[in-house]
Amino acid sequence: MFGRIAHRYDLLNRVLSLGQDVLWRRVMARRVRRARPGLVLDVCTGTGDVALGFPREIPAMASDFCVPMLALASRKAREKGRRLPLFAGDALRLPLSENAVDMVTVAFGVRNFESLEHGLAELVRVLRPGGWLVILEFSHPHGPLAPVLGWWTRTVPPRLGRWLSGDPEAYTYLPASVESFPDAGAMSALLARLGLTDVRASAQTGGVATLYEGRKADRTGGER
Ligand SMILES: C[S@@+](CC[C@H](N)C(=O)[O-])C[C@H]1O[C@@H](n2cnc3c(N)ncnc32)[C@H](O)[C@@H]1O
Repeated sequence: MFGRIAHRYDLLNRVLSLGQDVLWRRVMARRVRRARPGLVLDVCTGTGDVALGFPREIPAMASDFCVPMLALASRKAREKGRRLPLFAGDALRLPLSENAVDMVTVAFGVRNFESLEHGLAELVRVLRPGGWLVILEFSHPHGPLAPVLGWWTRTVPPRLGRWLSGDPEAYTYLPASVESFPDAGAMSALLARLGLTDVRASAQTGGVATLYEGRKADRTGGER
């Protein structure tokens, strides 16, 4: 499915979120800059918009199981003159040893995992103790704008997405997968259950998306 929509993926992100996705990824990049990790892994990188938004001085690599998405990420990295090692692979079975990276980021990827819990556990496995897992994911809008935001998410992507991408399935799947995804409270509880500390969830655009972060327990108690 992701391979079929890859060529229109960036355009659809901008249109369907009315440009908000750019701001959400910037929040994520700021979070990465603050931690100044030695090495970041961005999983489910898609066309690379998250990883290519990290500060240049922070070493990063990125992976995805969809080769057409990776091809676009590779082209974008070349055009921007950025060095971004890419590898194809399932985020639930990463070809990395335990404690391999200082930070793991994933934007709009975990919602698609075959098993959310196993996928998150795999991301925690490759993270070094004291390192941060940062997740950006759709969530359930709340507050006064919730009815409008909920209506938009349920109604616009299936219609506009089908038209712009030419794929009848992908943008029907989007609202359905958001609807069945845990809310911010349940997601935070799951991250804590997987052994992360300092778990925080910050709502973006009235809760349309949420930025989650949690730190893998550090035996020394140090923090970056
Ligand atoms: C909605 S896109 C998000 C792309 C990018 N992170 C962004 O913010 O635009 C989801 C991406 O996750 C990838 N993906 C989904 N499940 C995956 C898995 N189990 N392993 C690796 N990649 C996965 C898809 O191929 C797709 O490129």
